[in-house]
Amino acid sequence: MKLVFLGPPGAGKGTQAAHICAKLDIPHISTGDMLRSAISKGTPTGLKAKSYVESGGLVPDEVLIEMVRERLSESDCAKGYLLDGFPRTVHQSEALKEICPPDRVINVFVSDEKLLARLTGRRVCTACEGTFHISMLSNAEICPSCGGKLIQRKDDTPQTITNRLNVYHTQTAPLIDFYTAEGTLRTVDGDKPEDEVTREILIALGSQDDLH
Ligand code: AP5
Repeated sequence: MKLVFLGPPGAGKGTQAAHICAKLDIPHISTGDMLRSAISKGTPTGLKAKSYVESGGLVPDEVLIEMVRERLSESDCAKGYLLDGFPRTVHQSEALKEICPPDRVINVFVSDEKLLARLTGRRVCTACEGTFHISMLSNAEICPSCGGKLIQRKDDTPQTITNRLNVYHTQTAPLIDFYTAEGTLRTVDGDKPEDEVTREILIALGSQDDLH
């Protein structure tokens, strides 16, 4: 199955992608994770992307389209993919349609007020890459899954979050109309407990027996 997760920053795309990819045995392709890894390694893509990612703007389309084209040509994508964070502009969605169009697009909806609280409280593990919220942690510095060090992402400051939300509403939200017209969009309520959101997504993908 070829899936796209659409939704504003902090809607829970990464959290849900981990559950759905394990269930469907497809690779989780997060363009945000790929860019952060490129930035920390200092690759040419990382150098081009750094200022955009840290300010909450969008990295230029041509950089992202080439990165995703290359990733989707790898052998593990033969059985499908889950794209988390791509496409984010109409130009990117037109490019994906030409490269390898998705079967289903899941739009995870959460209001802006809730997103701000989620993102300012997010902590990520530098070892296992798990994502947590400080409200769930007894120690905000140690990963409860693997004992690794927890950090706050550089773009999870209130000012950058506000910028990311503005960018989402002006440049990414129009994709809801794009994929509605394609007939592939399903919207789920992301403001529910994590396991309920997973269940809603699985229902939106069809009965579990039909999943492949
Ligand atoms: P990216 O990493 O994709 O960031 P994002 O889209 O802003 O999404 P997030 O990772 O912030 O949120 P999420 O929806 O995955 O939420 P999460 O599961 O972590 O992109 C970063 C940057 O890279 C962009 O700003 C841009 O510069 C660049 N970039 C990436 N792709 C690009 C592209 N295609 N084109 C151009 N530039 C691109 O959850 C958030 C928090 O909520 C966590 O604390 C979690 O524990 C909590 N939570 C999750 N689910 C629930 C729930 N059900 N109830 C309560 N809390 C929950």
